Amino acid sequence: MNSYLEATRSLYREAALEPQEALCCTSSMPYALPGLEIPKEMLEMNYGCGTTVHLRDLKPDSTVAYVGVGGGMEALQFAYFTRRPGSVIAVDSVPEMLEKARENFEIAAELNPWFEPDFVTLLEGDALDLPVPDGSVDLAAQNCLFNIFVADDLRQALSETRRVLRPGGALVISDPVCDQPIPEFLRQDERLRAMCLSGAVPLDEYVGFVTGVGFGTVEIRARRPYRVLDARRYDLEDDILLETVEIAAFNDPVPSDGPCVFTGRTVFYTGDEEYWDDGKGHVVMPDVPLAVCDKTAGWFADLERDDIFVTDSTYHYGGGGCC
Ligand SMILES: C[S@@+](CC[C@H](N)C(=O)[O-])C[C@H]1O[C@@H](n2cnc3c(N)ncnc32)[C@H](O)[C@@H]1O
Repeated sequence: MNSYLEATRSLYREAALEPQEALCCTSSMPYALPGLEIPKEMLEMNYGCGTTVHLRDLKPDSTVAYVGVGGGMEALQFAYFTRRPGSVIAVDSVPEMLEKARENFEIAAELNPWFEPDFVTLLEGDALDLPVPDGSVDLAAQNCLFNIFVADDLRQALSETRRVLRPGGALVISDPVCDQPIPEFLRQDERLRAMCLSGAVPLDEYVGFVTGVGFGTVEIRARRPYRVLDARRYDLEDDILLETVEIAAFNDPVPSDGPCVFTGRTVFYTGDEEYWDDGKGHVVMPDVPLAVCDKTAGWFADLERDDIFVTDSTYHYGGGGCC
């Protein structure tokens, strides 16, 4: 096995045996859902950087594959919605982490009368070779794992999630990205990489990996500051900002003119007519924001009409619109 993958396992073995609250720093609070009590043992092992649990993805009959279970907090949150034996399949390559998650699910069952530990099937396995059949799940999720992978492994991990998703299913991601170049000596530092501090790639590049393995629609749902690699501590010329992004990638066919990537760009019509129809399926009306993918935003901007206003990306796409 590649030595950085072994270093990653070893770091998370330690983090399972002795929880390390400061290992990762999540930038969003878990939802306060009625009747859901998250055990403190899970909160102490929240090794994610954002959330992959989005209400609009979840239906009671969903089946979820969760890659890199950690202490089990997000798997428990998914199980809150699915509530069926085996409806969340949680994979991890570190046996000690799986054992810890198992213990945490027992505690969760004592605190939450609706929850049974068998709602979550824990499987030992690798993100690069998921022990899950083709096309068998509605949602796949990973939080703060794929950024650790080098390019070929990242492609493989993303392909694996697409393989296990049914057509139309979604991969939900929360991961660090970094638009500044991270020097090679930090990228090669296996421990920093395993700690999700030096493997991050720019957002556009990350989205390129996602669409490159065949996801046809991508949503950037949130983008927030995550960490600073400060010049003094990391021996750098300048501070480097890491951000965390939440992305949903849909297992849709890639359109002939390329994938649809929604980054929050929006079109407004400011003319005098009741509406304006571009003849390509987009109808804009006065005072009605139309969320569009970046391809469509570019097409509207290229029209250079003074009655069409196109916003920049907010990186906070919340659904809706057309393309
Ligand atoms: C940064 S932690 C994130 C844990 C969890 N997703 C969370 O948000 O708290 C990464 C997790 O991935 C697991 N892991 C590391 N390498 C893996 C691999 N190659 N395949 C599957 N799981 C892996 C670790 O054991 C750990 O549980």
